[in-house]
Amino acid sequence: MNELILDVEQLSACYGRVEALIGVSLQVARGEIVTVVGANGAGKSTLLHSLLGTIAPTNGRIAFAGEDISRWPIHRRIDAGLVLVPEGRRILVSMTIEENLLLGAHMRQDKSAVRREIDNIYDRFPNLGRRRSHGASCLSGGEQQMLALGRAMLAKPQLLMMDEPSLGLSPLFVSKLFELIKDYNREGLSVLLIEQNTANALRIAHQATVLELGRVAMEGDAAAIAGSARLQEAYLGGAAHEVTEADKRKWIGRRS
Ligand SMILES: Nc1ncnc2c1ncn2[C@@H]1O[C@H](COP(=O)(O)OP(=O)(O)OP(=O)(O)O)[C@@H](O)[C@H]1O
Ligand SMILES: [Mg+2]
Repeated sequence: MNELILDVEQLSACYGRVEALIGVSLQVARGEIVTVVGANGAGKSTLLHSLLGTIAPTNGRIAFAGEDISRWPIHRRIDAGLVLVPEGRRILVSMTIEENLLLGAHMRQDKSAVRREIDNIYDRFPNLGRRRSHGASCLSGGEQQMLALGRAMLAKPQLLMMDEPSLGLSPLFVSKLFELIKDYNREGLSVLLIEQNTANALRIAHQATVLELGRVAMEGDAAAIAGSARLQEAYLGGAAHEVTEADKRKWIGRRS
């Protein structure tokens, strides 16, 4: 296995009396896509916010690129390359598309490289390029997600964390988005992808962790998890019924 970019040990977090994460351990090797899947309330967003530092865990250790960042303030984590695309995208609709992208690069001094990277995003998404000087409110939900991803990439992430990026997108945009994540990964980006869109996430991920009520229920090779009955159980509330090949194709898009 490659060197670990992220090594989380026994992370716990709570909201008052609600234990949202209970002893969660998770690793991401450099250059890998790891997905964390789980039903509503499983603790997925809490995990991401604990990693970024917007929630203070009650226990556990987070190592990022070999350093213990558990006590680092948020801005130091971001500067080190831990970048989050939050749920709901958080595009600034009062700014233009280009201004939104520039925001992602505001820490960078290498302005000519930033310019090239922005042009590269416009090449990939002509719809963004054509409307670069328009307000971001003119974009569809799918286009806003692409803009949020582009903005995050301009911050030069070492690890890109995404919280349910496919939420509310049309199937066409979901496949575009996942192709794009895969492309960036082929270029070397490490990704921690949180999803309820299990089938698509497991298809592009190398490794997967299933969270259930704040605990790790399963982890391992993404293809193996996709084929596992436990996952179906977790999602469908009991595997008392016969699982047919047609069911499997519907759920995970291919034979297990
Ligand atoms: N601000 C909060 N205050 C109190 N409880 C919270 C808060 N945020 C989350 N929780 C609780 O913590 C648990 C984990 O929530 P979390 O948002 O991390 O789950 P999730 O897996 O991201 O769910 P979803 O798929 O709905 O986004 C849930 O029981 C939730 O109700
Ligand atoms: Mg969430």
